[in-house]
Amino acid sequence: MDEKLKKATEICERYHQEQLLDAYKRITSEKEKQDFLDKILTINFKQIEEIYEGKNENKVKFTNENVEPIDFVDKCKLSKDEYEKYEKIGVEKIKSGKLAVITMAGGQGTRLGHNGPKGTYDLGLASHKSIFEILTDTLKEAREKYNVDIPWYIMTSDDNDEETQDFFHKNSFFGYPQKCVNFFKQGKLPMVDKNGKILIDENGRIKEASDGHGGIFQSLRKDGVLFDLKSKNIEWVFIGGVDNVLVKPVDSVLIGLTCSRKAEAAGKSIIKASPTEKVGVFCKHNGKPSVIEYSEISKGMAEERLPNGELKYKESHILCNLFSWQAIEKISTQKLPYHKALKKATFTDKNGKVIIPDEPNAYKFESFLFDAFESLDNIVILRVKREEEFAPVKNKEGQDSPETARKLYIDFHTKQNSEK
Ligand code: UTP
Repeated sequence: MDEKLKKATEICERYHQEQLLDAYKRITSEKEKQDFLDKILTINFKQIEEIYEGKNENKVKFTNENVEPIDFVDKCKLSKDEYEKYEKIGVEKIKSGKLAVITMAGGQGTRLGHNGPKGTYDLGLASHKSIFEILTDTLKEAREKYNVDIPWYIMTSDDNDEETQDFFHKNSFFGYPQKCVNFFKQGKLPMVDKNGKILIDENGRIKEASDGHGGIFQSLRKDGVLFDLKSKNIEWVFIGGVDNVLVKPVDSVLIGLTCSRKAEAAGKSIIKASPTEKVGVFCKHNGKPSVIEYSEISKGMAEERLPNGELKYKESHILCNLFSWQAIEKISTQKLPYHKALKKATFTDKNGKVIIPDEPNAYKFESFLFDAFESLDNIVILRVKREEEFAPVKNKEGQDSPETARKLYIDFHTKQNSEK
């Protein structure tokens, strides 16, 4: 037996993943057979087994004993002097080219169900702007205001990189200088079925999915973006998701406040609307900044109120964060925990038949960006107004859908124009 095949067979048998060897046998092209074996030899089977078994997840991580609310600054309550002081510092940083923006667009957007990368979705405005064009508007506006080209990095995944880049090219980068826009791909991990068996995709290859937004830090290092940022003398990096059409990536007050506090990072928060709203909340966990994801908060903690009637944990994390270059460099060398998410995934069964499931059937392994906060000593939380900065596009309809985001977007811009 060929050496490579022998090694792959040993590994698959050791980790009870023999279905991969059956899939290998079904491949007819010699080149594809070799690629398949190479792929097997790059997989960290032990890691996959551990994540599947939940060994790296601490199920009772957040308890009343180790969690407390985190301090925050309310942007609306800053005095005129404070506001102007922070703004001045931030403007100086922006004008001197110290800020870069990263948009995370590597997600699958399964809930929206749009046929294409989420950023290419037409929000349904009279202008028919796509989400990517709406995001570009914020950078074009900042370019005009501060007379500086802000480098923009877009994180894609293997699944949507080509389509995303094509979309920008076809639309001439929506009028933003092409030289300022960079794309990089995030990492991926194999998907497993409910029994922990690695799946085969519809093309007979190992089924993989992007490794969550927490994968950004390692990808920034691996893809050379960290180095690129350094060579451009970037000090601050705003990292946000692709699906908030009211995101403000260039925020002088946020930058100024973070610099003044000598913090390594910052996060924007909005007040949680109700105990059951599906948002994570900032907190302190064992004295360190952290976020409790909505799926991980206990009912008691979610409903707990302060004597004044407000929710005790109410500073919602909206995936709008600012990191110093040093903080990213530090985090990029660390391992973040993986979480399991049950998703619908098309696969090839043991008879070589392609199955399109109606129900979630497979686990995707994801790390979360906010798990990185615990390795930082100090992050600043800036509470902002929901109606000014948060209009997520998550679901096809109902809450956090294109319809609700469109309304929030129109209301905000109508108000802004009437105030001009
Ligand atoms: P979500 O957690 O909402 O996931 O991502 P999603 O993939 O967009 O949508 P669903 O859950 O499949 O419906 C929040 C942000 O993080 C990015 C997404 O593109 C979005 O901007 N993200 C998520 C990544 O860049 N990579 C990932 O692996 C996951």
